[in-house]
Amino acid sequence: MVSTPPAATHNSGRQYVPDVPESVLDQASPNQFLMPLTAQVNGKDHLEIGGCDVVTLVQQFGSPLYVLDEATLRAACRQYRQAFQRHYPGESLVIYASKAWNCLAVCAIAASEGLGLDVVSGGELHTALTAGVDPSVIYLHGNNKSVDELQMAIATGITIVVDNWLELETLVELAKATSAADESPQAPVRIMLRLTPGIECHTHDYIRTGHLDSKFGFDPDQIESVFAFVQQHSTVLHCVGLHAHIGSQIFELQPHQDLAGVLVQWLVKAADYGLTLEELDIGGGLGIRYTESDDPPSIDQWTQVICKAVVDACGDRQIPLPKLIAEPGRSLIGSACVTAYTLGSQKTVPGIRTYVTVDGGMSDNPRPITYQSLYRTVVANRMSAPMTEAVTVAGKHCESGDVLIKDATLPPTHPGDILVVMGTGAYNYSMASNYNRLPRPASVLVGEGDASLILRRETYADLLAHDCLPHRLTRPPSEGSGS
Ligand code: LLP
Repeated sequence: MVSTPPAATHNSGRQYVPDVPESVLDQASPNQFLMPLTAQVNGKDHLEIGGCDVVTLVQQFGSPLYVLDEATLRAACRQYRQAFQRHYPGESLVIYASKAWNCLAVCAIAASEGLGLDVVSGGELHTALTAGVDPSVIYLHGNNKSVDELQMAIATGITIVVDNWLELETLVELAKATSAADESPQAPVRIMLRLTPGIECHTHDYIRTGHLDSKFGFDPDQIESVFAFVQQHSTVLHCVGLHAHIGSQIFELQPHQDLAGVLVQWLVKAADYGLTLEELDIGGGLGIRYTESDDPPSIDQWTQVICKAVVDACGDRQIPLPKLIAEPGRSLIGSACVTAYTLGSQKTVPGIRTYVTVDGGMSDNPRPITYQSLYRTVVANRMSAPMTEAVTVAGKHCESGDVLIKDATLPPTHPGDILVVMGTGAYNYSMASNYNRLPRPASVLVGEGDASLILRRETYADLLAHDCLPHRLTRPPSEGSGS
């Protein structure tokens, strides 16, 4: 099994390029590599991903461009599924946390690999259903779901992961109203309960969710009254299990191991209230390698630890194994994508730094300015040029903080060079904005030398598509002044 990525070396054209032999491509854990698994340097000294020359892709589809490698995404999906099959003797389901990148093509790929889907809004649900994802493997999250979203979830028969009391009470009313309107008994609404397990983990404060001071889920001191309530309303609510998610970009295995133990303990408690819960969803959170110093566990290692913790905890308490669900986002898609930019202006502040500027920035990748996230980059049209320059890669937005990479090492660069930033598959497109009215970039799916557009570049017409100009503002000033 290939689980250790090759060391990244400086001053060599092939740094960051994974060099995974095709024969073991499916076994390398994508989250441990800086680049998509199919990345190579071609005869023109250009970066190639999925058999496509990235420089040519930019000429064809424009810049900036998200380049998503299908083989890497599929490899990660398969590894999660196979790892659960290998390490868990009971039933299991991997659901893709589509908030990482929700669009039709990505939902369809996840579903075609046998994954379910985690959605967090009516919009993500609509996309998943339109992509043809089976509602029986869709789970709806969210700490403030609207009545519309809940009605949509009930109508489509997906599972709702209930976060709080208001939602629980609203669901009871909606389920009763649906039954009454149809004048026939409806199947109870399928729900899970989200718990706040009180588990600390080391990641950015904004992406920690399992500690007690969190806006998500029921706190431990409320759980027993929630169980009693759910049992009382079992004609309209069918509670199938428990869920928790402790945070994102986590490299430690211990917090997930602890989480499994805590959740099994609550499964046992639920039985005291007459609830037989068959599903346990341990969330997502496995981190990826954004820089050489990041050393995340492989998908297989993460899965093995969790499966063992659940099996041991169930064995200790002598309860049957639940259906085990995991919902990874970042570790499925993060390393499968790079963003290609075209370099423009440069500025040297003597004795301080040299800025090189890309044609995008915080609007297509808001992670550096939001979480101080680190990224690595290469010049795709001169892959073997020695990396001799220390530069700061800035975006084009009217904001000093719009810096993608503060301390990048690059070959000498020129306007027109194609700069590729790695590890941009998760929470880049999905958090992209139109700040400064920049149209969102296009996305292409690459594989076996073929590139297909999966998200068209926005146009200026798209930017105006939702603008409304009240009639009175269209009159010339002299007509409008009146008095
Ligand atoms: N399940 C739930 C309930 C979640 O809230 C999340 C992520 C996941 C699963 C997937 O977690 P992952 O495997 O991707 O770590 N925008 C931030 C990340 C926010 C994560 C939100 N929830 C970032 O760019 O780092």
